Amino acid sequence: MKLSLFLICFLVLLPLSLQDPSPNQVKAPTRAHAELTNHGFPIGLLPLSVKDYFINKTSGEFSLFLDGTCKITLPPDNYLATYSKQVTGRIFQGKIAELQGIRVRAFFQWWSITGIRSSGDNLVFEVGMVTAKYPSKNFDESLDCEGRRRSSS
Ligand SMILES: *[C@@H]1O[C@H](CO)[C@@H](O)[C@H](O)[C@H]1NC(C)=O
Repeated sequence: MKLSLFLICFLVLLPLSLQDPSPNQVKAPTRAHAELTNHGFPIGLLPLSVKDYFINKTSGEFSLFLDGTCKITLPPDNYLATYSKQVTGRIFQGKIAELQGIRVRAFFQWWSITGIRSSGDNLVFEVGMVTAKYPSKNFDESLDCEGRRRSSS
């Protein structure tokens, strides 16, 4: 179906966008990235610039905050993926549920990623009732948001 086609494009193109990182970029993973790793997920599910992060270890509920809305454009067809300033959900071992704040735009509409599961070497993305499975290794690196004003001095 169309959505799957889009996600395949997304995952094929993602490594290309990782090949030319800006040299002055700090790539230190945040605590939020570490939390992903602790729960069996690759850090590339989050952009680089996570500003703040809270988790309730009992319930798995988390909130993370970016500097602002984070946008990543995926060439050559300019698909957009956006992260809201606040992303919330519940994280368990191998499972992220009740996810809010991550969307992809394809075929003239926005699709919210509602959940992500880790399954062997793959990640299963849930978009409502639809799921799509892709290799986790495509998400081994964390992307930078684009169009950000950064103080590079
Ligand atoms: C964490 O979640 C548990 C279970 O839902 C709840 O009882 C507790 O009050 C929460 N703690 C905080 C600090 O929100």
